[in-house]
Amino acid sequence: ALKIVTIGGGSSYTPELIEGYIKRSDQLPIKEIWLVDILEGKEKLEIVGAMARRMVKAANLDWDIHLTIDRCKALKDADFVSTQFRVGFLQSRIKDERIPNSYGMIGQETNGAGGIFKAFRSIPVILDIVKDMKELCPDAWLINFTNPSGMLTEAIVSYGHWNKVIGLCNVPVMAMISEPKLIEKTLDELTYKFAGLDHFHWHRVWDNTGKEMTLEIISKMYDGEDAGLPKNIFNVPFFREQLTQMKMIPCGYHRYYYRQEEMLKHGLEEYESEKGTRGQQVMKIEKELFELYKDPKLDYKPKQLSERGGAHYSDAACEAIASVYGNKKTQMVVSTVNNGAVPDLPNDQIVEVSSQIGASGAVPMVFGPFSPAERGWLQVMKNMELIIVQAAVTGDYGLALQAFILNPLIPSGQKAKDLLDEMLVANKKYLPQF
Ligand code: NAD
Ligand code: G6P
Ligand code: MN
Ligand code: MN
Repeated sequence: ALKIVTIGGGSSYTPELIEGYIKRSDQLPIKEIWLVDILEGKEKLEIVGAMARRMVKAANLDWDIHLTIDRCKALKDADFVSTQFRVGFLQSRIKDERIPNSYGMIGQETNGAGGIFKAFRSIPVILDIVKDMKELCPDAWLINFTNPSGMLTEAIVSYGHWNKVIGLCNVPVMAMISEPKLIEKTLDELTYKFAGLDHFHWHRVWDNTGKEMTLEIISKMYDGEDAGLPKNIFNVPFFREQLTQMKMIPCGYHRYYYRQEEMLKHGLEEYESEKGTRGQQVMKIEKELFELYKDPKLDYKPKQLSERGGAHYSDAACEAIASVYGNKKTQMVVSTVNNGAVPDLPNDQIVEVSSQIGASGAVPMVFGPFSPAERGWLQVMKNMELIIVQAAVTGDYGLALQAFILNPLIPSGQKAKDLLDEMLVANKKYLPQF
């Protein structure tokens, strides 16, 4: 019987996760689900925990849902540990967005200066969790969803020396739900190959005769149809000539780099308006969700949850757990150790790639080398990630400054240093390492 633990259990996404387990109840002999949060998140934990219990009951399952702020108690003898915490809460995300905006730069949860600071706050916590896991559940698998998901996975492997980890994101799942419809196919009929980094991967697609369909999907993307862009990303279209040249489909987040000027303009407009930044918008959505979750009659995931960018996340998280547990060898896109799948990057670094998921974890599929333009981006971004992770672990100011200067969304110069200094002060409470 399985004991599954979720850290950051008070998240409004938890019903999505519970729904994912219920869907797979025939594959997963779950006995206990432990939702863990911290004191400040206790109220949310209790509301969403009660909702989780109703969902499980409505599905006629006898799983025990435990709610706790005692992480060690939860981790003891766990089989799977999934993480979805937000160090510093939405308040910190809003600072990650608004402070860079005030310098005329992109403010985003996982990109630019905001993404760097989310890594600085989250990496010490994930390494603490790994330390606890070594003692309390040394055989467990860690399924990380906490952002920046790729950098956390890098920290877990390189600094935590913990290899039983799978890093996840819903973006590839969304592409594989939406794109087959654009070309009137089913996912079963298509072969997908993804490679790159979390929130910075590209992919190609083939049909069941071996014909490459990538350019056809690209062409459909310009007919105004839904190509699986998550709700949190504003849709500035990519330059068609650029995609046609690269013959790959970039992920939604690439537009922050390929159309930086336009994405910045949109972000600054929202920052200056009533609407506010995405974090401020999410605060409203979250309030509405928790009002719904309080309803003692609600025992299913409400449709309003699809307003969050992480929709379909359980199709990644729960499927990864079911695939490892059942040695299903499902093909999924995950953050894992490269091992040659992306020859443009060293073997021991974390990449996000199409992989086969089974009892031994993720086995990445070979993608092959990139062309110079994509290789250049990839190597800059990966090396920037390595610097961020090292700075997050050591608290080295010079390295943090290097990361800011290297980041393509932060123009180099005095403003970059001033922004770094202001964000260090604003985040002081959550940065014990600096
Ligand atoms: P949230 O603000 O609801 O946070 C979840 C919970 O984490 C909260 O209840 C909070 O109290 C708790 N928490 C804060 N600090 C903690 C700590 N030190 N230990 C344990 N719990 C702690 O956040 P959310 O919007 O549900 O997102 C949760 C996380 O998942 C974020 O890091 C977010 O970026 C990430 N996320 C990832 C993806 C992906 O594609 N990988 C998609 C969506 C969200
Ligand atoms: C997604 C991503 C996440 C991201 C989130 C934001 O698309 O894959 O990694 O951080 O959505 O969603 P939100 O609703 O919080 O803005
Ligand atoms: Mn993601
Ligand atoms: Mn917007």
